[in-house]
Amino acid sequence: MKLRSLSTAPRVGLALVRADLNVPLDSGRIRDDTRIRASLPTIETLRARGSAVVVMSHLGRPKGKIEDGLSLGAVAERLSELLGTDVRFTQGLPTSAAAQVEVKRLEPGDVLLLDNLRFDPRETKDDPGFAAELARFGEIFVEDAFGAVHRAHASTRAITAILPSYAGQLVEREVQALDRLMNGTDQPFVLILGGAKIADKIGVIEHLAQQAQDVLIGGALGNTFLQARGVPIGRSLAESGELDAARALMRRFQGRFHLPIDVVATRAITEDGRAVNVEEVGSDEMIVDIGPATQASYRDIVLDAQRVFWNGPLGLYERPAFAQGTLAVARAVADCRGYTVVGGGDSAAALAVAGLADKVGHVSTGGGASLEYLEGRVLPGIEGLLEN
Ligand code: 3PG
Repeated sequence: MKLRSLSTAPRVGLALVRADLNVPLDSGRIRDDTRIRASLPTIETLRARGSAVVVMSHLGRPKGKIEDGLSLGAVAERLSELLGTDVRFTQGLPTSAAAQVEVKRLEPGDVLLLDNLRFDPRETKDDPGFAAELARFGEIFVEDAFGAVHRAHASTRAITAILPSYAGQLVEREVQALDRLMNGTDQPFVLILGGAKIADKIGVIEHLAQQAQDVLIGGALGNTFLQARGVPIGRSLAESGELDAARALMRRFQGRFHLPIDVVATRAITEDGRAVNVEEVGSDEMIVDIGPATQASYRDIVLDAQRVFWNGPLGLYERPAFAQGTLAVARAVADCRGYTVVGGGDSAAALAVAGLADKVGHVSTGGGASLEYLEGRVLPGIEGLLEN
């Protein structure tokens, strides 16, 4: 997809950047600053060009009102450290009177972070009035929040109808990587899908399974597919209402789906698990990981691949005892010589834990966004950046 690039934007005194600074917080402390780091190149580029930069983002899902725990204050501090400059910050409503005063004081190279966009109920409604208020914070708009481009919100869509809009460096990099994966012709192409919700994955499967000859399934998603095939899964987490959807996909793309042949099952997630053949899961047990034979067979398929996309953990990854399958897949993807793309917070975290993040072709900062992009649709936050 050809986007209007920041490199073609005019030099302006004031640039408004939408970043995705939606980072995981633990009692107010940032647990992982990957997304803040990923937003630095665009901000640095604009500063180097002599612009003052106003950065805006959402954090979590406040319901259109101020929630102290979801203020971007800690993010402003971390951004200051990483940029090596004092980032100004106005707490409360993003377009408050204080923010409007602060923006007038900015000098070239200064950075101002507005507080959580979702504190204003008009943000998630894609409200043109709110977009117009935001537009007063820049002469150009730079979309760099790849993780949020699948949202039709005021700061991602409505604003592009008001200000001259450009793709930031992160958005450009993500789009190039996903286009390379999706539009490539090298075979074999392998999809690895885990996580919980089938609804999040149906679109990608429908769009890519035509050209992907192997679709490796695990996680709670795997349980749903196993159940759809008539395998008893005990008390495993699964979406029983989606069995028809799973069956329809397996019928349509016959021979492409690989489901676990063995699994780790346990009676309680606080107890140890046992590796069993998938047919031997007890009625009082639940599946919490893929087993060693499945890990080995998935690894063989991945190592032969020329293109790989992986989204979602293959087991109850938060518990180290049940993280083996996800880590095995992370290692296989890292060892694959083909072009590999990983999307989604948990899969990216597994790679990072295993020290393998730099061994894959691309790690996307957007879980939902990368999945929706790979459905082949023009996303709401991308549409206004397309070059005519
Ligand atoms: C994400 O974490 O996937 C993005 O920041 C989007 O957040 P959202 O799902 O709350 O819109």
